[in-house]
Amino acid sequence: MSEQGEAAKIHRSVLLNEVLEFLAPESGGIYVDGTLGLGGHTEAILQKSAPEGRVIAFDWDEAAIAKSRERLQPFGNRLTIVRRNFSEIAEGLAELDIDQVNGILIDIGLSSLQLDIGERGFSFQRDEPLDMRMDTRREVTAASILASCSESELADIFYYYGEEKQARRIASFIVRERVQEPLSSSKQLAALVARAVPRRFHPKKIHVATLVFQALRIAVNTELENLAEILTKAVPLLTPGARFCVISFHSLEDRMVKRKFRDNPLLKVLTKKPVGPSPEERESNSRSRSARLRVAEKK
Ligand SMILES: C[S@@+](CC[C@H](N)C(=O)[O-])C[C@H]1O[C@@H](n2cnc3c(N)ncnc32)[C@H](O)[C@@H]1O
Repeated sequence: MSEQGEAAKIHRSVLLNEVLEFLAPESGGIYVDGTLGLGGHTEAILQKSAPEGRVIAFDWDEAAIAKSRERLQPFGNRLTIVRRNFSEIAEGLAELDIDQVNGILIDIGLSSLQLDIGERGFSFQRDEPLDMRMDTRREVTAASILASCSESELADIFYYYGEEKQARRIASFIVRERVQEPLSSSKQLAALVARAVPRRFHPKKIHVATLVFQALRIAVNTELENLAEILTKAVPLLTPGARFCVISFHSLEDRMVKRKFRDNPLLKVLTKKPVGPSPEERESNSRSRSARLRVAEKK
């Protein structure tokens, strides 16, 4: 199989039908995909909005963009790819002379490309450098956070971004061990967390280091700040009746989406409860299991 086929095969876009139903793309419309990734949602929106619909797709990961650019070439100038943080949606669209769009989607988190073949330390299944940047132009890495933050700053990161109950104990272990040897690899960090947390507190369903890895990734990529910004800044860009769809993967994000949608007087919430995957999708794509879609409509 070609590399492109391989990439498309490993990343299955989540809640695809549900997103299409809410966005209802039409020819002539302009849609923003804030998280292009491997382009599955973008491709479907372009197909539905043929012959004249456009997608402006943002991503800050060069590798994801390169793969999608090649794969989505047949759509020609109906697709514009912008390498930028989606929190800069207004600036990115202004550069293209666009001030109103007919729908926005963001599908946050990691693509399978980043998780499975990224070599950036997102997973502790392999031994990789502790980088965790989705945008390699940024300076802060997981290793630099682990080397430079104080014990209480580390504990706060693990507690607030990972909801990790053993945050203080893990932070104290890190600060003690980093004097002997800098923390530079994913396996090294996973092993340290396993030693720091007493056996009786090891979770049954997930690896003991899962929440620490999640917390570091959120901190490195300023994920909650980015989400808060787009949830506010994107609303004035929507035409009346246009929909804003957000797929999130953990409760910190989902809570933020719920509140920002509810508290914005310019929005009408269409999903009282978040939409999750169908039993078939859960079965066929394990990554979909924690996905939650919330949708609001511009008044
Ligand atoms: C889950 S994947 C998207 C998958 C995509 N919907 C598909 O169907 O292939 C998330 C993508 O969003 C990108 N991303 C995450 N946060 C971002 C941000 N703040 N700005 C731009 N891109 C971001 C990641 O680099 C990643 O490629």
